[in-house]
Amino acid sequence: MRVQTLLRRATGLTVSKSVAERAVRQRMERTGQTDSEAYLDTITPDEMTQLVELVVVPESWLFRDPQAFYATVELVKERWSRGRTTRIASIPCAGGEEPYSMAMALRDANVPKQAFSIDAYDLSPACIERAQAGVYGRNAFRAQDVAFRERYFTHVADDAYRIDEALRAQVSFRQGNLLQFDTRAMGKQYDVIFCRNLLIYFDKPTTRAAIDTLSALLADDGMLLAGYAEVPSFCQHGFAPLQHRQAFALKKDDGKPPVPAPAPAPVAPLKKPALRSVPPSPTPAPALAPVRATPAAPARTRPVSVPAATAAVDLLAEARLLADRGMLREAGEQCHAHLARAPEAAEAYYLLGLINELAGKMDLADDYWRRCIYLQPDHYEALCHLALLAERNGNHTAATTLKARAARIYQRRQATGQ
Ligand SMILES: C[S@@+](CC[C@H](N)C(=O)[O-])C[C@H]1O[C@@H](n2cnc3c(N)ncnc32)[C@H](O)[C@@H]1O
Repeated sequence: MRVQTLLRRATGLTVSKSVAERAVRQRMERTGQTDSEAYLDTITPDEMTQLVELVVVPESWLFRDPQAFYATVELVKERWSRGRTTRIASIPCAGGEEPYSMAMALRDANVPKQAFSIDAYDLSPACIERAQAGVYGRNAFRAQDVAFRERYFTHVADDAYRIDEALRAQVSFRQGNLLQFDTRAMGKQYDVIFCRNLLIYFDKPTTRAAIDTLSALLADDGMLLAGYAEVPSFCQHGFAPLQHRQAFALKKDDGKPPVPAPAPAPVAPLKKPALRSVPPSPTPAPALAPVRATPAAPARTRPVSVPAATAAVDLLAEARLLADRGMLREAGEQCHAHLARAPEAAEAYYLLGLINELAGKMDLADDYWRRCIYLQPDHYEALCHLALLAERNGNHTAATTLKARAARIYQRRQATGQ
């Protein structure tokens, strides 16, 4: 539909037909137009802005998913102890709830204001105006603990609270479309970026473009805070999870020190290069290519002998070791040996999936990962691999469902500290 395409081009947002049509109807009523084609033919940039205001979802509240703010406080303090300031960005910031929460958390932790800066952007000029005003009603105070309202807000009217002026001055608000940021001019200017609850409204190519932009804006040692359902998308596009409980924090995946997986697999990952138990990178095969290129140590050119008394789990550890050395056939054999003893070992199927992926046998990989999640429905890594595979095969609906399922598991594990 034409208006949906126009809106996607202008904002990146995937807007449903009914929402798009309703927005056009509303604007036509306002502007006195009667023909929707004529309205769209003559739409000006200003009118487009008005139309966009009707489709954005500026849903936010103060201290939403608060662990992200506490993880950032720790990072700012640590950097400040080394004399380094921290540049923080909130993209998108909606009505300012997120960047102000950040400022409050830093104030609560007695972090001096010269230790950080906070920039906040949103596509919607109306959101930026609200953010700059800093006045909030009860919807903004949905957090479990709202004691901060007493500390940082003044009750100015019935259901209206204004934020402390000094906090307001700590945040620089700007209107901006993430997809149109001039990353060349801006450079890697942020140490921490909050990009929460935006990618969920984007289609796959737009998600990719947005993540590329965020990556270009983030310092190489920076931290990115995502919405919980967005973690798998970041993991598929060059980011790796950081272990901050319930913060949904990520870093650029430089392949350097092994990133602690959000949910440790039963078999501990080996040091790199190794089959990883973290979510898949965008191009798993190249990432693992060094494994194949690494010449196998002479002592390992024949199958590893396994003592009779070896516990079943050791077979899997051996299988990982063999696969990491490029000995895929032997690794597969160890997995099957393990399955002969423990036919319901989901981890063995997961590993067989990785081994077949390395061998380029994607159908088999898909089959093994499916068996894995049949046996263990909350196997996060297998779900992420299956989502990636579905996407590569053009099956976007399945990919979305799998990603959402993986995200739910990720969230649950973070919540329980598993
Ligand atoms: C659901 S809010 C998220 C706010 C906040 N990050 C949070 O998690 O509470 C989504 C916001 O994204 C903004 N937005 C949509 N498309 C955008 C784009 N291309 N660039 C920047 N902001 C955008 C909308 O205006 C809306 O305020």
